[in-house]
Amino acid sequence: MQEQWLQQIQASQNLTTLDDLRVNLLGKSGLVTQQLKTLGALAPEERKAKGAEINALKDQIALAIEEKKIILEAQALDLRLANEKIDITLPSRPESTGKIHPISKATQDITQYFSQLGFQVFDGPHVETQELNFDALNIPAHHPARQSQDTFYVSGSNDILRTQTSPVQIRTLRNHKPPIRFLAPGRVFRSDDLDATHTPMFHQLEGVVIEEGINFSHLKGALIDFFSWFFENPNTNLRFRPSFFPFTEPSAEVDILWKNGKWLEMGGCGMMHPKVLRNCDIDPDQFQGFAFGMGIERLTMLKYGIDDIRSFYDGDTRWLDLYGFGAQS
Ligand code: DAH
Repeated sequence: MQEQWLQQIQASQNLTTLDDLRVNLLGKSGLVTQQLKTLGALAPEERKAKGAEINALKDQIALAIEEKKIILEAQALDLRLANEKIDITLPSRPESTGKIHPISKATQDITQYFSQLGFQVFDGPHVETQELNFDALNIPAHHPARQSQDTFYVSGSNDILRTQTSPVQIRTLRNHKPPIRFLAPGRVFRSDDLDATHTPMFHQLEGVVIEEGINFSHLKGALIDFFSWFFENPNTNLRFRPSFFPFTEPSAEVDILWKNGKWLEMGGCGMMHPKVLRNCDIDPDQFQGFAFGMGIERLTMLKYGIDDIRSFYDGDTRWLDLYGFGAQS
């Protein structure tokens, strides 16, 4: 029996069978334990000799199991190490770093350009009073732009989401006296339908110059230079179309001649209306000025050939790659 049991222990393939064997031999009702229980029926002399023999056997088996266990545990560990190993020589996955959004880039480029010409940058709140967004800009209460189809009204208040960056003209000119040149880039909101060229939120860029002796030719020169720089074409052709804005007089819409021979509207502009200057406590007989306003999305779409305004806000970084704004990896 002893030889057979020791062989079984040696032949155990894994820790489970080894432990089963241990229970079968040394457990409470194990074979060796049963032998020990037979001792009681023997005569004292015989019991002593037999008892020593069985205990020696028990120790031998316990030792054999212990040794086998160490071997099987080592084998199991080797197997796990072999299966679960990590290849640390594999190259890591590429990590991409964020890059500037086209709207932010255009805004930064444009403000940098104008800052070289002495323009400061001012900002205003998105939730604006009707007084600053409309009245002070000479937009009367009955003007269609003030209707709720076009303007987001803030419920429980007289305020609105600003529909244009022009209220920053008033905010700035009430606090900073001319001579002054400034830009006001930022978000504006209109309850427009969502399609390839309209979103309820977009970005505008307002520009204002108020100095003594400013006239329309300064406005023309400034915009010709700006568009030539922005579209990287020194021969950029501009057209000023007579138009109407309540806060400028005269007013014009400015078009540029695009590659396909088409005129494309870029924004509005004009000479500061005397009423607006007076609303800001500026004497129109002393100071004159011009203002312009344009859509930053529109400029950016034309410059980079982007055809759907909604893609600016989709948050799909693959789109940035398409237009060369992509994240670097
Ligand atoms: N605020 C006008 C708009 O949203 C754009 C504009 C036109 C701004 C003429 C100006 C300007 O400063 O002089 O349609």
